[in-house]
Amino acid sequence: MMTMTGRSLFRLLALLVSFAVAVSGATIVKTLPGFDGDLPFNLETGYVSVEDSELFYYFIESEGDPELDPIMLWYSGGPGCSAFNGLIFENGPLAFNITKYEGGVPQMQYYSNGWTKTASILFVDAPVGTGFSYSKTAEGWYTSDTKSAWQTYLFLRKWLIQHPQYLKLQLFVGADSYSGISGSIVVQHIIDANEAREVPRLNLKGYILGCPRIDATINENSKIIFAHQIGLVSDEIYYTMKEACNGSYSDITSSQGECYEAYLKYETCTKDINTNSILEPTCNWASPKASEELKRRDLEEGSKPFILSPPRIPEFWCHNFNYALSYIWANDEGVQTALGVRKGTVENWVRCNQSLQYTLDVSSVLDYHKNLSDKGLQVLIYNGDHDFTIPASGTQEWIRVMNLTITDDWRQWIVDGQIAGYTIKYNNVGYRLTYASVLGAGHSPQEYKRRECYQMFERFINYYPI
Ligand SMILES: *[C@@H]1O[C@H](CO)[C@@H](O)[C@H](O)[C@H]1NC(C)=O
Ligand SMILES: *[C@@H]1O[C@H](CO)[C@@H](O)[C@H](O)[C@H]1NC(C)=O
Ligand SMILES: *[C@@H]1O[C@H](CO)[C@@H](O)[C@H](O)[C@H]1NC(C)=O
Ligand SMILES: *[C@@H]1O[C@H](CO)[C@@H](O)[C@H](O)[C@H]1NC(C)=O
Ligand SMILES: *[C@@H]1O[C@H](CO)[C@@H](O)[C@H](O)[C@H]1NC(C)=O
Repeated sequence: MMTMTGRSLFRLLALLVSFAVAVSGATIVKTLPGFDGDLPFNLETGYVSVEDSELFYYFIESEGDPELDPIMLWYSGGPGCSAFNGLIFENGPLAFNITKYEGGVPQMQYYSNGWTKTASILFVDAPVGTGFSYSKTAEGWYTSDTKSAWQTYLFLRKWLIQHPQYLKLQLFVGADSYSGISGSIVVQHIIDANEAREVPRLNLKGYILGCPRIDATINENSKIIFAHQIGLVSDEIYYTMKEACNGSYSDITSSQGECYEAYLKYETCTKDINTNSILEPTCNWASPKASEELKRRDLEEGSKPFILSPPRIPEFWCHNFNYALSYIWANDEGVQTALGVRKGTVENWVRCNQSLQYTLDVSSVLDYHKNLSDKGLQVLIYNGDHDFTIPASGTQEWIRVMNLTITDDWRQWIVDGQIAGYTIKYNNVGYRLTYASVLGAGHSPQEYKRRECYQMFERFINYYPI
């Protein structure tokens, strides 16, 4: 209990803070619909105004030592996938209880291996149009890689200025999947501002990218290499293709004769594979046109007839059932009230906004990483080794192109006595990059190997070898 004096002081401080910053709109969330009792961690939600955008965030303070533990910005890929994905399926201290869904607000449970056990995490719905983030103007909805990186950087800067107690902490930028593009640019913006001696200085220590998109050409090529490595195409198909296409597989056209023919064989072999995790079913089992069925299912994701009848047979379980609960939860009026979502700003929350007004204007951020590689940063790059969307072979390839010095060569990393993946460490004048594969994991790895990924993060963020 706070004393009267403490309370008035608190009010006064709160008043001063709300005077110092024009907009804050923060909500301290103590309870959430679907969660029994008080939340066992500190959650703040709110909006930060950046240009025409109102960017929504979920901030979860470290459950360890919040005054010393690092703070990490985190956002999801897509582009257009809500940071709620990161929070509930990947890095956060909450998970849906999927044991039995019988309608109503989905049940949530505490998840003890959240990355927030050892770091404070600022989850942001970026770019604008994602999750609960919205634009105040019609033009403001239009965004791109460049604009979204700039707005996300401004968001981070503004949020830290509004929450100065976190400015002194070590800062990491984290992103996954498609946000590998803008996440890399955000890091560069922070470095640029610090080099230009902008105040306050952001205490950037490093960045963390999960199965990130970095370079379009390397990524396209890596799919063919991965398909061969893991056995989706025969040696014959692969070597024929390699020779006929001269090792270059992006933008193959029918004018390329033999290369095109080999490519068609590759495509036939791989088109019905679940690209996010090649061992999982594609959530269809009775359709002769599997890939079309998958697309249709994707579109229907979240619609009631689909989610209320998930198959009970474990072999047919797929991630979409878990995803579906997020639509019900986030569109619940009680939930939105608890989160302080502004009424009427987002008609219908979607997990990933497929109709974002988004221009892909950066096809490679490899040059950014090359430039960052003499900035003394601590970097973690990881990839599921069953990911066919951003294959691990491509991630290793762009790291190789950076021409860093190997300091700890390829070896296994272990969780509870079992191999959790493979890792390799590089160095370049104080820039330290750790790459880790996650054995058996798809895209994003935390969704498949959440416990192992927590161990990986925990070791990295505390400067232990993985
Ligand atoms: C999840 O839900 C099931 C069924 O309602 C319940 O038995 C179980 O205790 C719940 N688990 C947690 C961790 O809350
Ligand atoms: C194949 O690639 C090599 C090296 O990238 C290049 O020198 C050569 O001209 C290419 N050949 C064809 C037929 O495109
Ligand atoms: C998706 O983004 C578009 C434009 O960026 C926006 O108009 C729309 O409202 C967003 N959809 C949802 C469901 O948030
Ligand atoms: C990388 O650094 C070089 C030299 O300073 C600069 O010309 C180039 O624009 C930088 N590239 C990026 C992507 O920042
Ligand atoms: C890679 O690094 C080595 C050793 O630092 C250097 O000799 C070589 O020129 C570099 N290659 C490229 C392509 O940058």
